[in-house]
Amino acid sequence: MPKTLSFDTNDPEFLQNPYPTYQQFFADSPTFYDEITKMWFFGSHHDVDTILRDRRFGRSILHVMGREELGLPEPNPEYAPFNKIGEHSMFDKEPPEHTRLRSLVHKAFTPRRIRDMQVHIQRICDDLLDVAQAKGTIDLLDDFAIPLPVTVIAQLLGVPHEDRHKLRPWSNAIVKLYELSHTPEQAQAAIDASQAFNDYLISLAEKRRDDPQDDLITALVMVEEAGDKLTLDELVSTCVLLLNAGHEATVNVVGNGFNALFKHPDQLTKLKNSTELIPTAIEELMRYDSPLQLFRRWVLEDLTYAGIDLKQGTEVALLFGCANHDPTVFDDPMALQLDRTPNPHISFGGGVHFCLGAPLARMELQIVFETLLRRFPDMTLIEQPEFHPSYVIRGLKALPIQLTT
Ligand code: HEM
Repeated sequence: MPKTLSFDTNDPEFLQNPYPTYQQFFADSPTFYDEITKMWFFGSHHDVDTILRDRRFGRSILHVMGREELGLPEPNPEYAPFNKIGEHSMFDKEPPEHTRLRSLVHKAFTPRRIRDMQVHIQRICDDLLDVAQAKGTIDLLDDFAIPLPVTVIAQLLGVPHEDRHKLRPWSNAIVKLYELSHTPEQAQAAIDASQAFNDYLISLAEKRRDDPQDDLITALVMVEEAGDKLTLDELVSTCVLLLNAGHEATVNVVGNGFNALFKHPDQLTKLKNSTELIPTAIEELMRYDSPLQLFRRWVLEDLTYAGIDLKQGTEVALLFGCANHDPTVFDDPMALQLDRTPNPHISFGGGVHFCLGAPLARMELQIVFETLLRRFPDMTLIEQPEFHPSYVIRGLKALPIQLTT
């Protein structure tokens, strides 16, 4: 039976390890009303998967209801640079606008363009590991897992080398506002980063319009379908989305994934000795310690779901990390099983917003795990890592390791 709880997503102990709490939900009820956020939470695999695909739920609501009706204040003009990025992004749109934007971007983000990135990704990976090897002792995140996907997106987009260092701080500041709560300082930093990023991308797009190159920004500038093109605002929002969505989660699959492997030395050894297991291992690591724990959906019309009456204009929360540990879907869900097949984890989402970058992410992760295990089979963990005290984006503060003995 659904019940009422007070689910404290700021509890430090929960943030370090949310999975025992999720198992408790399954023992009790993975569907509950939370007194703190006044939202219904859904944690079963069936519910998360169904709601993601059910068009009566959406990532945005403003196409159906006005702000006044929703009881939302008019947007604070100080947040305009940040809000503008969301307003023109496919991430915050629903069909038919979402379909239009996603198919335009899809035309530029072609399978060939992704395939062609394989050589670049391997080179970026090797270059970073050459520097790391010279150091001997590294933070796997700061020295490798963070710069790698940022450089990959920068390369894909066509951001010149000398500007690449700006991208991560901008992205990092912007995504802080996606958490369930944030400080005024974090809000200001996100606003400033949005403005700076917007100005930078507009100037880069203008350069590419005059002097086209073989990169994604040029492709986005040129893309056209049935006479329809991306506006400059849509192009900026798409690039910011690709950078944000394209690296935060990838960083944390590497960090959370190696953390899990260090905690299971037998499985780490097995993976080193049977690298053909890497593709299924990556899927399992994404399930076992999910980099994105929660996404919200708006209720677009009055409806009854699983016996619960949901009013138009309310929000529900979908617990991805919990759904990935549903004992009715995953045999022994708390166990790490690198050869788990099938593995219907939900870490890339589902329905119309299913991760656009999943093929690129999988290719990147395959190269990362294969190269690290091949070049540094004896790497060891130096210090037990801690997770950032954030919930939606789950990742470690640092992962200090010794690469060679
Ligand atoms: C392992 C790494 C990644 C994970 C776990 C991940 C996960 C997700 C999830 C869960 C969503 C859907 C969110 C929702 O339904 O509310 C999503 C959407 C998206 N992702 Fe990823 N992602 C990853 C990597 C990437 C990469 C590398 C890119 C691009 C370069 C990317 C681009 C996108 C975009 C553009 C969307 C929005 C799609 C839409 O709204 O239609 N992601 N991702």
